[in-house]
Amino acid sequence: YRRLRVALLGAGAVGSQVASLLLKHGDELADRAGAALELAGIAVRDVDAPREVDLPRELYTTDAESLITGADIVIELMGGIEPARSHILLALGSGADVVTANKALLATHGPEVFESADRVGASVYYEAAAAGAIPIIRPLRDSLAGDRVVRIMGIVNGTTNYILDRMDSEGADFADVLADAQRLGYAEADPTADVEGYDAAQKAAILASLAFHTAVPLEAVHREGITTITAAMIEEARDAGFVIKLLAVCERLIDDAAESISVRVYPALVPRSHPLASVHGANNAVFVEAEAAGSLMFYGAGAGGVQTASAVLGDVVSAARRHIAGGVGQGESTRANLPIVPIGHVTTRY
Ligand code: NDP
Ligand code: HSE
Repeated sequence: YRRLRVALLGAGAVGSQVASLLLKHGDELADRAGAALELAGIAVRDVDAPREVDLPRELYTTDAESLITGADIVIELMGGIEPARSHILLALGSGADVVTANKALLATHGPEVFESADRVGASVYYEAAAAGAIPIIRPLRDSLAGDRVVRIMGIVNGTTNYILDRMDSEGADFADVLADAQRLGYAEADPTADVEGYDAAQKAAILASLAFHTAVPLEAVHREGITTITAAMIEEARDAGFVIKLLAVCERLIDDAAESISVRVYPALVPRSHPLASVHGANNAVFVEAEAAGSLMFYGAGAGGVQTASAVLGDVVSAARRHIAGGVGQGESTRANLPIVPIGHVTTRY
């Protein structure tokens, strides 16, 4: 097989599992990709930090730029805006394809990243950026490209679902369960992103952009988190036959023949008989309604290192196949694409 150099940026909850699986299943992945995937190195902040996953020490480096230069595929799993943004732009500029799970970056700097990729004919893969292990980016971008999506509704943040679920089922304390979610690798580096709904809003913006073939800016997403939800509210909801879930709802609205888009994230009362009420732990579920296809349901692990690594490695195999098939410049476009809806056409109306 031709060898492809893979640079990994980040060895946290997700990155460490990606590296471990890449090393463990290298031969199988090579057969599927048609290329040997050589892990060239792993960029971290501290090469001596104690780590839960045991990886060859010589792979670690603090020099991300050198690692990126000369790589065929760069996997960005640092999170946050900087230096992730600069590293991705450097990778694309150097001719590499990029795989990322970074919804914070894509929801705020997506157009810049996708335009940079288009300029050099590279691709950006981001299946893990929404709903963890659940395949939802490709279905929206590719499988449903011939249909008209009218609505997406679901649970897209694992941490808040885990917290609300344990508060509901065990009467657990908010702060205790949040600490557990952090320990289990579900939460963002700053868990405010989870509990205040920013993470779900970023994912909703990405999903709506793909579903409605436009670019939905993050600031157009109505956002509420779960920090105002008390144990008493959860108990009251339970007594009335409901469960509280943090929902993301993206809709195409038609008014007097004019179309607009509504994207919002908020805690909602869900009847206990509804399928979303049975989404437990850090799982996610996304319902998609399309004009021709009707209703589709996607369900599975929405957070967690090894689960998310599955989505990341699927993207790595896709990127490798693209390199082998035609190289940079002849691959698919992975951008959300098509005209940008002027902000006035995006509404947060209920
Ligand atoms: P972590 O915080 O666990 O890990 C981040 C890693 O990046 C660490 O290894 C850290 O190095 C490294 N890093 C951070 N900043 C720098 C820097 N400036 N220079 C060099 N290395 C740096 O993050 P996760 O693994 O949880 O998440 C990674 C990405 O995946 C994020 O974008 C997140 O939103 C996304 N994601 C996460 C999921 C999850 O369940 N955790 C699920 C889906 C997506 P060091 O170890 O030395 O500190
Ligand atoms: N912090 C995120 C969540 C990780 O809990 O859903 C997965 O994107």
